[in-house]
Amino acid sequence: MAGVGHVSAPHLALRPLRPTDLPSVLAIQRAAYGDGYQESATVLGRKLELAPQACWLAHAGKEVVGYVFAHPWDAAGAPALHVPLAALPVAADRGFVHDLAVSPAARGLGVAAALFARVRAWSGAAGHRGMRLVALADAVPFWGHHGFTTLPAALPEAYGAGALLMECAFRDRD
Ligand SMILES: CC(C)(COP(=O)(O)OP(=O)(O)OC[C@H]1O[C@@H](n2cnc3c(N)ncnc32)[C@H](O)[C@@H]1OP(=O)(O)O)[C@@H](O)C(=O)NCCC(=O)NCCS
Repeated sequence: MAGVGHVSAPHLALRPLRPTDLPSVLAIQRAAYGDGYQESATVLGRKLELAPQACWLAHAGKEVVGYVFAHPWDAAGAPALHVPLAALPVAADRGFVHDLAVSPAARGLGVAAALFARVRAWSGAAGHRGMRLVALADAVPFWGHHGFTTLPAALPEAYGAGALLMECAFRDRD
């Protein structure tokens, strides 16, 4: 697959995502979730347009190895999947992690930890009370490991069976 090769952690770097990165992002997304979850460049590009400071790319030299998309949000559950966000909430008080994925060849090297630390720092600096996300069934233990706990919620069907709304409150705000 183009753009997804082998990598060693010392060469890892992060930079803000750009619209021209979307083909590499979609290739990693397909490798991570299969065709069933594949989003469109339009939907992801809109998130990037609305919250460029919350979307990051991980690379090792020219090799793209992971990405994260986040954006400001409020307490209103989860955004619909496969639909471009019309606008951000006026009174956003949380960060929402839309998606974080790492290419299979680069897993276990701290890429996800580095990407999550970057959006956690963005959300904290924005004065949010915490972060939310929808964890697909397989990712619930990963997010639990990063301090997220489950909230009761009815989610859009497109997230799939076993998906859960999760939240991590920032203790330093209490
Ligand atoms: C889940 C995923 C993002 C982890 O990426 P990664 O780069 O291999 O993770 P890291 O090497 O940065 O690991 C960071 C920490 O999370 C832990 N971790 C990694 N995968 C985990 C999992 N599936 N369950 C629980 N903990 C996990 C690691 O042990 C590590 O812990 P430590 O900091 O205490 O050492 C990656 O496997 C992936 O892209 N999966 C498919 C997409 C997905 O499920 N994304 C998340 C949901 S949106």
